[in-house]
Amino acid sequence: MAEQAQGLREWIKGQSIQAQKEVLDARTAGSRVVAVTSGKGGVGKSQITLNLALALQKLGQRTIILDADLGLANINILLGYEPSYTLWDVVQKHLSVRDVMQQGPLGLSIIPGGSGISQLASLNTKEIDTIIKGFQELESEFDWLLVDTAAGISPGVLSFVLAADEALIVTNPEPPALADAYGLIKSIWQVQGRVSLELVMNRSVSLKSGEEMGMRVINLTKKMLNQNVGFFGAVREDTHSARAISRQIPLVLLYPASPAAQDIGDMAERMIHRIKPAKRGRWEQFIYRMGRMWSSWPKAEDGPEESK
Ligand SMILES: Nc1ncnc2c1ncn2[C@@H]1O[C@H](COP(=O)(O)OP(=O)(O)O)[C@@H](O)[C@H]1O
Ligand SMILES: [Mg+2]
Repeated sequence: MAEQAQGLREWIKGQSIQAQKEVLDARTAGSRVVAVTSGKGGVGKSQITLNLALALQKLGQRTIILDADLGLANINILLGYEPSYTLWDVVQKHLSVRDVMQQGPLGLSIIPGGSGISQLASLNTKEIDTIIKGFQELESEFDWLLVDTAAGISPGVLSFVLAADEALIVTNPEPPALADAYGLIKSIWQVQGRVSLELVMNRSVSLKSGEEMGMRVINLTKKMLNQNVGFFGAVREDTHSARAISRQIPLVLLYPASPAAQDIGDMAERMIHRIKPAKRGRWEQFIYRMGRMWSSWPKAEDGPEESK
């Protein structure tokens, strides 16, 4: 079985982008919502979301990013542009979600959350419906919705994670980041979230040490919480990363052969094969579930209630 899968992957790699797309479309019809999140800030979420999205585009996967950091819009800074509109304008100015969508490199689409993200908490049902409909309309045009969230365990952030199909929990090998990754997994476990969790070890010295470090967190969550977390992959520490950020050109475009760009590219390939296809209607459910959580959870930033 494993050999067969490997053989198929090799074959797909050898085909043209168009042929790759046709094969993958047939195997993975349906679009998926993947939240990229972390316990601690500054671990590389935005960098990974943007470059993963571009790597997916390169593989012929139609990808859209929801830039959902509550305070700081990040993706636009990495790309060096100022969004004209944000999600909030869908409610305020009655624009469609498509109107606020921005075009990034390689045909990547981006929805700037901006202040609209924090305002979601105060939307009424009709307003949430408007946003749901906007997402619904776009769903058939995309294979992936990647959500770049803020860090931490506040209800606002957790609502994105819990509403997604899959969450990539980004951490790095430093003890505070590892502890916060564990804390985030524990918070998700406490609210009995059904989202499937995968760990990404960014800034690893090597792929091997990154995986070893990741497995320590994964084994701990299994032992202490009986919560399954998968290992999604390691991204190596790479000085090209800071250079790409300062030039406001994505790493996979500016330095495609750099170690971190290669690792993120490999991750995109694994993603296509590992994350299960979802039925249509996932995006609608994603926004709906999020809206419901926003309205029912306490507004204070003090985390979810302890589980009973
Ligand atoms: N693999 C890496 N190697 C070296 N530096 C990295 C790597 N990934 C991220 N960084 C650095 O970490 C900083 C924070 O990344 P960012 O994506 O903004 O984090 P977050 O979105 O989690 O706050 C960036 O300045 C970037 O240069
Ligand atoms: Mg960020």
